[in-house]
Amino acid sequence: MPALLEIGRRRGLHVLEDCAQAIDATLSLQKAGTWGDLGTFSFQSNKTMTSGEGGLILTNSPGLAERITALRAFGRFNSGEAVRSSALECRQLSSNYRLSEFQSAVLLGQLDSFPAQDERRQANAARLTHHIERIPGLRHVRSLGADMKHGYYYYVIRYDPQHFGQVSPDRLCQVLGAEGVPFVPGDRKPVYRHPVFQAENVRPHLWPDAFARYEDALVRNPPQCPAAEEACDCTIMLRHQVLLAEPTDIDDIAEALSKVTRNVGELLEEKN
Ligand SMILES: Cc1ncc(COP(=O)(O)O)c(C=O)c1O
Repeated sequence: MPALLEIGRRRGLHVLEDCAQAIDATLSLQKAGTWGDLGTFSFQSNKTMTSGEGGLILTNSPGLAERITALRAFGRFNSGEAVRSSALECRQLSSNYRLSEFQSAVLLGQLDSFPAQDERRQANAARLTHHIERIPGLRHVRSLGADMKHGYYYYVIRYDPQHFGQVSPDRLCQVLGAEGVPFVPGDRKPVYRHPVFQAENVRPHLWPDAFARYEDALVRNPPQCPAAEEACDCTIMLRHQVLLAEPTDIDDIAEALSKVTRNVGELLEEKN
């Protein structure tokens, strides 16, 4: 975040901090959502706090707050006085992005349960990391400094492709699933490889001159993120719900990982 903020400052850009999954995470003892000019959290159904759909935006800027409040509901601006909605003025095209009172009530209840659940996730994650540090070929992707706190939406493990003979994350998750541990593969391709960004799919959405620039940029400078490409081939994850298990379940997860690692030869044979 400090590096991104620096680029924003140099270029005169607002920085939007997408911390959708990072409720109560910290970096340098500062909470996620308070770094950017705007911080955005998601309450979509998979998240650690959820109202099915919905989200929250944080900002310290009164000007941005006013715009966001208006864009949330049809771009209708309020002069600050409490007036009837019929007196509000539509100044910008927008839509209806409002969170309902019903959803808000569901979320407020979760504010009470969050600290205990979070404490449990943190303790179980630390326990799992302690185990994983002793299993060759595996590592928890995030080494936490004393001034950092992970949100543990996912607990992410990288495996050494050499040690695992290029076994795919899907196959590894299948094998771990057979041991009763619900791992899921990480994303299987970087964002820029999704068809939506291919030139022919972008063409209908841009004016011809903007499309020409897009296509030209793709040809001149095709996106290449080797670290992301590599991560897609050797990442498996546990969802946050699993981290609410009993500590002995965490020990069982570590044992399953250890067993699969010890017997990786069988997986290699099936590939040959
Ligand atoms: C990092 C990140 N950004 C954005 C989103 C989108 O949030 P929403 O589904 O609430 O629009 C998600 C998840 O859904 C996410 O994980």
